[in-house]
Amino acid sequence: MDLDLVAKKALLRKIPHGLFICGVREGEEVNGFTASWVTQGSFEPPLVVMAVRAEGSSHGIIERTKLFSLNILGVDQKELAAVFFKPQLAMGGRFESAPFQFGEFGLPLLDNALGGVECELVGQVVHGDHTVFVGEVRSAILHKDCEALNLASTGWSYGG
Ligand SMILES: Cc1cc2nc3c(=O)[nH]c(=O)nc-3n(C[C@H](O)[C@H](O)[C@H](O)COP(=O)(O)O)c2cc1C
Repeated sequence: MDLDLVAKKALLRKIPHGLFICGVREGEEVNGFTASWVTQGSFEPPLVVMAVRAEGSSHGIIERTKLFSLNILGVDQKELAAVFFKPQLAMGGRFESAPFQFGEFGLPLLDNALGGVECELVGQVVHGDHTVFVGEVRSAILHKDCEALNLASTGWSYGG
């Protein structure tokens, strides 16, 4: 039977998502992008699951370096999320709007996010237009324990 595309889109868009800035680094090159397809995948070891667009510039960096960070945005950081999905003049340019430090594993962690985790890639599913990356959380820094930004509150959609 054919897939009901209207139902599929309506239902998949009901899956609740947060909004995060994923950070990557390869040598001197640093990049970040807005990601919403993120969830926890295990308590022990602590795993996170994130789907990354196969054609994006960060995808290859994650595959090669086997590392990424996830910065958790606060409820008032919608504008920052917008900076990190718009096209940029040069790789890493988005960070001009967002001061950051390198974490223990050398990945960018935004000063003004609620906090961030650095993850080591432990698995991936390569199938379709996004690759599902599974990362083990290796470091965590909490700046402030406040309400996080979620996709529904922005009026944007990514999914379906
Ligand atoms: C609301 C929203 C959510 C997004 N979520 C994701 C996501 O989960 N994974 C992803 O790969 N791209 C996602 N994107 C798209 C990337 O942020 C965008 O393609 C970005 O330019 C990729 O940057 P890069 O090519 O420098 O890696 C999202 C975009 C928007 C507007």
